[in-house]
Amino acid sequence: MQPLLSILQQFREHSPRTELPSVPEVLALLRLQGDDCAKLYAAADKLRQRTVGDAVHVRGILEFSNYCANDCGYCGIRRSGGVTRYRMAPDEIVTQAIQARTWGCNTVVLQSGADPWYTVERLCSIVRAIRLAGVPAVTLSVGVRTAAELRQFAAAGCDRYLLRFETSNRRLFRQIHPDETFARRVQCLEDLRSARIQVGSGFMIGLPDASLATLARDILFASRLDLDMIGCGPFLAHPDTPLGGKPQLEDREIYFKTMAILRLLNPRAHIPATTAFDALDPNGRNRVLQCGANVFMPNVTPGKYRRLYQLYPNKPCVDEDGAACACCVRGRIAGLGRRIADGPGHSLRSQSRAKTARR
Ligand code: SAM
Ligand code: FES
Repeated sequence: MQPLLSILQQFREHSPRTELPSVPEVLALLRLQGDDCAKLYAAADKLRQRTVGDAVHVRGILEFSNYCANDCGYCGIRRSGGVTRYRMAPDEIVTQAIQARTWGCNTVVLQSGADPWYTVERLCSIVRAIRLAGVPAVTLSVGVRTAAELRQFAAAGCDRYLLRFETSNRRLFRQIHPDETFARRVQCLEDLRSARIQVGSGFMIGLPDASLATLARDILFASRLDLDMIGCGPFLAHPDTPLGGKPQLEDREIYFKTMAILRLLNPRAHIPATTAFDALDPNGRNRVLQCGANVFMPNVTPGKYRRLYQLYPNKPCVDEDGAACACCVRGRIAGLGRRIADGPGHSLRSQSRAKTARR
């Protein structure tokens, strides 16, 4: 195992565009156990330290609407679910984003279901107001939009966008995503790049009926996209969805091994320790920060809406408010001997692109 690990590590760090490992090689890493597994985490952590450093970027996630036009098979806010719906008014979103900045979030991530009430005009005016108020960076995560809309978001000051491809297995994608095609999602990622927005994508780990080989392919697919940010998290079965009752992976370490492998294959990407890891294990986000991640996304949604945005059960922080989460996050990061990053936290990839453009 050790030779494979060190080859991967050095190879990708110095020439990120060179070939990726094969599916069997990734499978071998996913199957590591015991001491070998600990070595995998240590290698990912060491590489993270060398490439993106010890500073952790804190991005506040503001879940501003749980209306959704889509009926994804896994999601707690799906169209046909029985959840009470809410929408935050544009002014309320802007005020909360500015508040999040005072809690130490240099980026605010605006996330919602696929909610057409937030037209491109409405979203652009929200983004513009937040940027004008001095928030260093804004990320949108509002589902698939047209190339023209993405260009308007960029012009309004949207720096980044999160849109997971969820699974690279086309058959599984069709089963759990009745309203969208895989090709359309991936096209949207390309359109984001053309609009000069930093692209974040990823997948759910451990979807029912996804084999270990599918997981290996997801890791390779994400790595081939050459992303600015890779956002992945465990699939957690929501009881009120068609996938309710499906079990978690038996080997819980697979969730963490996936994150470590992603770091080894993507030395320069931002990798968040996503909220769902804390639903899996109370120390989950800390563990992910110790096996390759360098971003933490505290919830900055006003307390009264949190219980209504439960994409999966056991979601952490639903009884806290933004100030409590921001304070908790500072403690968690300091407890790991890390520090909070300054500045907007743009990806290394986008910074090199900007440097090349200036030459
Ligand atoms: N509407 C936007 C979109 O489709 O990208 C953003 C909101 S969507 C609810 C955010 C992410 O939540 C999805 O990309 C999905 O991976 C994750 N998610 C939803 N249900 C989940 C579940 N049961 N377990 C784990 N993650 C889930
Ligand atoms: Fe919300 Fe810890 S991040 S309480």
